[in-house]
Amino acid sequence: MSESELPEHVRRNRAHWDEIAVEYVANGERNWASDEPSWGIWGIPERDVGLLPAELAGKDVIELGCGTAYVSAWLARRGARPVGIDNSPAQLETARRLQRQHDLGFPLLLGNAEEVPLPDASFDLAISEYGAALWADPYRWIPEASRLLRPGGELVFLTNGLICMLCVPDTEAEGPATDRMRRPYFGMHRNEWPDSDGVEFHLGYGDWIRLLRANDFEVLDLIELRPQPDAVTAYDWVTAEWARRWPSEEIWKARKRG
Ligand SMILES: C[S@@+](CC[C@H](N)C(=O)[O-])C[C@H]1O[C@@H](n2cnc3c(N)ncnc32)[C@H](O)[C@@H]1O
Repeated sequence: MSESELPEHVRRNRAHWDEIAVEYVANGERNWASDEPSWGIWGIPERDVGLLPAELAGKDVIELGCGTAYVSAWLARRGARPVGIDNSPAQLETARRLQRQHDLGFPLLLGNAEEVPLPDASFDLAISEYGAALWADPYRWIPEASRLLRPGGELVFLTNGLICMLCVPDTEAEGPATDRMRRPYFGMHRNEWPDSDGVEFHLGYGDWIRLLRANDFEVLDLIELRPQPDAVTAYDWVTAEWARRWPSEEIWKARKRG
């Protein structure tokens, strides 16, 4: 598909991520070099989260919005067969360099996670850490994840905590999330921050549940991440003190009905 045929938000997010990819190189390098998966902006270890299915060996995995593809690298080292798809050539350039550096190959595709050029029912696990989960339209990528999964396959995604998205100020200059709700919960979907060129997507809890169920998913869990008191993050839109009181990040787990 040529760039001009991409949906408007996908075109804009490609330009956005190509521009900021350089800021994600160090994080990609650090995570590729680590054997223990850790999640989200607080880097909470997998042993404290339980995001991944217990059995990964031999599983076909699609990472939707893989960025520098360290999640796929962690899964490949656990015996899974990952395929990463990402919308940003610049992010994939870093991913390919890190594949060579770590001598760990798996397919990486340039494309939109809302329209993946792969057959139905070809994966056991679809995963996204702040990839499609945040930057693609859920009314397009959730049906696509369902199409790609085999019956009984799992969907796992991590994104911003919804309460946090209600409480962060419009611009970074106004500081981190406070205890005041600044925008309506009802009708949340597409969101554009005034000081960013990117387009994000956030849904209310009822909307997530209805969307997942309408696409043949059974909801297994909603894990609300809580950092340790001494946790640090490179991001300035939320503090550890806030995130100890309310969830700054959430993980949805769902299973495709058999
Ligand atoms: C924050 S990164 C996620 C990767 C990694 N887990 C991380 O946290 O750095 C977001 C990624 O989503 C990708 N992305 C945004 N929209 C996408 C879409 N429609 N399809 C596939 N990838 C997309 C961006 O290009 C970017 O590489």
